[in-house]
Amino acid sequence: MDNHKGESVNGSCSPAKVTTLILSLPDHVGGLAEVLNWLKEHHVGLSHIESRPSRKNVEEYEVLLDINPEQGSNLEVLLSALRTIATSVKVQGLPKATPLEKLGRDTSMDIAGIPWFPRHISDLDLSSNRVLMYGAELDADHPGFKDEIYRVRRKKFAEIAYNYKHGQPIPKIEYTAAEVETWGNIWRELHKLYPTHACKEYLQNFPLLVEHCGYRPDNIPQLDDISKYLTKKTGFQLRPVAGYLSSRDFLSGLAFRVFHCTQYIRHGADPFYSPEPDCCHELMGHMPLFLDKNFAEFSQEIGLASLGASDEEVQKLATCYFFTVEFGLCQQDGQMRVYGAGLLSSAGELKHALSDKAVIKPFEPEKTIEAECQVTQFQDQYFYSHSFDEAKEKLRAYAATIQRPFELRYDPFTQSVEVLYTPQRIASAVTDIKDQLNNVTNALKKLNLAARYPHF
Ligand SMILES: [Fe+2]
Repeated sequence: MDNHKGESVNGSCSPAKVTTLILSLPDHVGGLAEVLNWLKEHHVGLSHIESRPSRKNVEEYEVLLDINPEQGSNLEVLLSALRTIATSVKVQGLPKATPLEKLGRDTSMDIAGIPWFPRHISDLDLSSNRVLMYGAELDADHPGFKDEIYRVRRKKFAEIAYNYKHGQPIPKIEYTAAEVETWGNIWRELHKLYPTHACKEYLQNFPLLVEHCGYRPDNIPQLDDISKYLTKKTGFQLRPVAGYLSSRDFLSGLAFRVFHCTQYIRHGADPFYSPEPDCCHELMGHMPLFLDKNFAEFSQEIGLASLGASDEEVQKLATCYFFTVEFGLCQQDGQMRVYGAGLLSSAGELKHALSDKAVIKPFEPEKTIEAECQVTQFQDQYFYSHSFDEAKEKLRAYAATIQRPFELRYDPFTQSVEVLYTPQRIASAVTDIKDQLNNVTNALKKLNLAARYPHF
């Protein structure tokens, strides 16, 4: 790669608004051209560019760009898009760890070495676009890579996710006849297995989605309708996402009862295989369980445990998530059943997980975190619980062993997490809990009175 030291491409930027980015790009022809085209298409001014071989990776080079985004454009959205082209994107001059100051919220907490985490549900706007894989671009081995129509379609879905902000309605999609056909094929195949394989909570809740959210084999339901219904039932809501997020960013959504949900559908050429989550996986696999109160609590527990945890701990929690929410089994009425969405959206592995060939062990977080997550083949082992409550209690006990110099408390009224790191804050939390206990005690007294004097 030649150096372009000092080459000025576009001198129209005001120096005061310049943002400096450092991109790492694979050392092959076309990478830089793709970045420059992208900037041009999105009207991002470029005032300075230079490049150099990467000091960390001989197969990469680094490009420094002074850019000037259009007024009002969202830097996070821009960065997310560039991350689909570059292997890494750094913003020079921004504080390394956290946008706490940028958020204008409680900046009094300053705990060195703690990774940034969202404190309020709207802070997810800052982390939900940090897509690691796929997003607006597909890899060469993706089933839709050679299908230009499919790729254009995926870009549209990615744009919706990148532009989404907390509190907005999720844009509705007019799915094509081909997309609905793919959905219908998967629906019919899976419904042959649900009565004998899915857990009772799944079987109870699926008809509610049919009744309230437009679930039909000839209709792909809209995320916005499902999100509103979920919120009514368990306080969960959906947020559109363009592709794979990091474990940390994905789990942090669960802490606020937000599920990052893909809106696109897999390529129709291979309806029974998808290398990534798609709406068939999310809507048929996950949604019925998020209507269950205990399951919703269990999911939020994993999310809360991940906030501010070290990378190593987040990875362990992600493994717990993987072997429960994605591939979990449960014992019900003497039979093994499935509640994991990865299984409930894949007919082949659903059959396998309940066959004699599957290795099934009790869910014990300390042991489950040692298991290897398989992404391109069936799991080597599965883990079961007797109930979501049991799984939640085990996870809570495990989360208590995670070393964090603070405690967190979720406030459902403000949809924020309170960081308990000073004696005053802990005392205030105890007062709140006392008030809540008083309310419950008074309610119980009134119930007793009502039972004794039913004519009142
Ligand atoms: Fe999933």
